[in-house]
Amino acid sequence: MEFPSQVDIDFVRKLDGEDKLASFRNLFHFSDPELCYLDGNSLGRLPKRTIDEVNSFLTKEWGHELVDGWSHWIDQAQTAGDLVGEAALGAAKGQVLVCDTVSVNFYQLCAAAIKARPGRKKVIIDSSNFPTDRYVLAGIAEQHGLELVTLDTDGSGGPGSVKIDTAFELLTPELLEPHLSEDVALLTLQAINYRSGCRQDIRAITDVARSHGILVVWDCSHAIGSIQLDLDANGVDLAVGCTYKYGNSGPGSPAWLYVRKSLTAARTRSKAEASGSGICTAPSPTGLRSAGTLNKRPCMSATRSVVSGWLRR
Ligand SMILES: Cc1ncc(COP(=O)(O)O)c(C=O)c1O
Repeated sequence: MEFPSQVDIDFVRKLDGEDKLASFRNLFHFSDPELCYLDGNSLGRLPKRTIDEVNSFLTKEWGHELVDGWSHWIDQAQTAGDLVGEAALGAAKGQVLVCDTVSVNFYQLCAAAIKARPGRKKVIIDSSNFPTDRYVLAGIAEQHGLELVTLDTDGSGGPGSVKIDTAFELLTPELLEPHLSEDVALLTLQAINYRSGCRQDIRAITDVARSHGILVVWDCSHAIGSIQLDLDANGVDLAVGCTYKYGNSGPGSPAWLYVRKSLTAARTRSKAEASGSGICTAPSPTGLRSAGTLNKRPCMSATRSVVSGWLRR
């Protein structure tokens, strides 16, 4: 495509006319057709279908079922997790939960990763990481008596940070390697950085960290819905993200967390052996729809049980 020296409205309209994704515009609610909204990185637009879905939930589920709705709402963290996993994360079933906020999930995964690497004394983050992630990790490091290593990728690292010569905050295995060792429990980065928009090489960085036994927690808040994440294929162990940016799920909607199956499998096996019965089984919700079902539900859904078990072990 040839770009004219002067881009005018006619040229922009021509590009819009040739845009293969243009029809998706009709799926969204527009109250002001003149508004050029470029803040989907903060809060995605309202999909038209959400208006019907939310109204239907309010009247048909909450309004009609009252507390009996609990029997199928309780599994939503897993049901929605499997859907998000398949649609946007490249994750097979049983590894994603939709729950809580990014910060809560980030805290849980980092704390669990540190516990999974006992005796290691360092955790690593970069200065261009999202502020809440940096504050949460600083708190965890202090709580566990660990050294917090901040890689200064944008000049904002401050005293004690380690300067890294990057372009647009982009890290590579070669830049990271000198800072990785058997003394590091955890490295955390964003899959796409929230300011520069740089896209980290998830697979290469996970691999180089794993070669030192380090677990990586990927914050995918700016990546979900905007790139093909392929968490399973990229060998990711742990990841978190929101749903309200390019996921268009709305203000206040829950975040998600991903724990690779092989991390939870060992625990599932040992628990099954101990109880002689396997992990708790989630019965079909359809058998639990009559009134007064609360006491009949034996346990939470399988993914939730296994993942929470790994987080709390
Ligand atoms: C990359 C990133 N991490 C973490 C957060 C914090 O998310 P929450 O407010 O859901 O904890 C955000 C919020 O915008 C974010 O963009």
